[in-house]
Amino acid sequence: MLNYAHMRMVDIIERKRDGHTLSEEEIRFFVQGYVNGDIPDYQASAFAMAVYFRGMDAKETAILTDAMMHSGDTIDLSPIQGIVVDKHSTGGVGDKASLVVGPLVAACGAKVGKMSGRGLGHTGGTLDKMESVPGMDIFRTREQFIQQVNDIGLAIIGQTGKLVPADKKLYALRDVTGTIPSIPLIASSIMSKKLAAGSDAILLDVKFGSGAFMKTLDDARTLAKAMVEIGTHLGRDTRAVITDMEQPLGLAVGNALEVKEAIATLHGKGPKDLVELAKKAGAIMLQQAKIVEDLDEGERRIMAALEDGSGFRKLVALFDAQGGDVSYITDPSKFPVAKHIIPVKASRGGYLSRIDSLSIGVGAMKLGAGRETMEDKIDMSAGILLEKKVGDKVEEGDVLCYCHTNKLGVDEVLRDVHDAFVLSDKPVDVLPIVHEYIHN
Ligand code: URA
Repeated sequence: MLNYAHMRMVDIIERKRDGHTLSEEEIRFFVQGYVNGDIPDYQASAFAMAVYFRGMDAKETAILTDAMMHSGDTIDLSPIQGIVVDKHSTGGVGDKASLVVGPLVAACGAKVGKMSGRGLGHTGGTLDKMESVPGMDIFRTREQFIQQVNDIGLAIIGQTGKLVPADKKLYALRDVTGTIPSIPLIASSIMSKKLAAGSDAILLDVKFGSGAFMKTLDDARTLAKAMVEIGTHLGRDTRAVITDMEQPLGLAVGNALEVKEAIATLHGKGPKDLVELAKKAGAIMLQQAKIVEDLDEGERRIMAALEDGSGFRKLVALFDAQGGDVSYITDPSKFPVAKHIIPVKASRGGYLSRIDSLSIGVGAMKLGAGRETMEDKIDMSAGILLEKKVGDKVEEGDVLCYCHTNKLGVDEVLRDVHDAFVLSDKPVDVLPIVHEYIHN
C-alpha cells in the first residue's frame, strides 16, 4: 500500500525538473491525483514539460504505464481460448495492414483481438475504413468481442469500456502544451492503452518518415525499444517492426479505396510493399501465438493463407460477424465511387525518389477522406490512388496518381499532391518496407 500523505505535487515537479529519478510512489501519486482532479492541469503541464526535458528511465516509464493502465477499466480476455495477439500501428498514410494481416494470421489459427481507432488529420483509422462497408458495427461489448474471437479467431472493434482515462486527460493536455514529442510520454500513452485492452501478445508497427509520428529511423527505433521494454517488463510478449512511411503504404489512400486494396491483396493481387509487410508482421504474430517456431515457417504459412483464399474468407467472416454487408467484400464494385476522378500528371521525367506521405495524407483528407477535427464527416469514396511508387521510371505526362473526390475547387490540393512526387535524374534504390525487427 503506497502512502501519499506526505506528498506534494510541486516537489515531484521540482525533482523531475532537476533530473532526479522518480519513485514508484511519486509517479502513482501524480497519475491518481491527476485523474481524480486533485492535481490541476497547470501542475500536470509543468510535470509533462519536466519529463519532456529530463526524460524517464525504463523503470520510471514502466511504472507510469502501469499506473495509467490501471486508471480505468482493464479488459480480461482470459475467456478466449489460446494466446490473443494484437497489432498496433503508430499511424501512417494508406495503412490498411490490419485488414490484411489480421485475416491472414487468423486464417493460420491464431486468435486476433484488436481494438482500433479512428483517423485524425493526415492519418487514417482502421475503424473508419471498416465503416465504409454498410452495416459494419465497430461497437461491441466485451462479451461479444470475446465470443467473436473464440468463434472466428478475429475481431476488430472500437474501444470498449472506460479504458485509460489518465491518457485521455494527459494526451489532450500534452497536445496543447508542446509536450507530445517525448518518448516516455508517447510510449506510456500507447502501451497503457494496448495493455489495458488485454491481449497476451502485441506486435507494434512503428513507422518513420514524413507521414509518420516519428520522422526519423533513429527516433522510431528509440520509441520501439521503449515500448518493447515496457510490455516485456509488464509481462506481455511485445515486439516491434520499424517500417517505412517515406511513401504511402500500398497504392490506395482513403477509406473505401483502402478496403478495396485490402480485398485485392487477399485475392493475391496486392502491392508489393503491403504483401511484404503482411508476410513479415504476420509471421511474427504467428510465432507470438506459438503456432510456428520460426519466422521462415511463419512466412510460408502466411503466404499459403494468401494464396489458398483462406485469408480472404476470414475477412468475409470478420465483416459478417460484425454486421457488415459482405456482398461489398465479395463484389467490391458495389463501393461508392467519387464523382470526380482527376489524374495528376508528371511535369517532367525521371525516377521517383520519394512520395511525401504527409502531403498525400493531407491531400486525401482535403479531398474528403479524412477529418481535420474529430467532428468532421468522412466521404468514404474520396482519396488518392497512386499509379507510381518510389523507384519507378516516369515520363513527362505520365499519371502519377488519381485524386478521387466529390468536391469542386480542389486545384490547390492537386498542386500539393503533384509536388509530393519527388523525381531524381538517377535510378533510385527501393528500400525494404520492414527496416528492423525489435524483440527480446
Ligand atoms: N499516440 C498515442 O496514443 N499517444 C501518444 O502520445 C502519441 C501517439
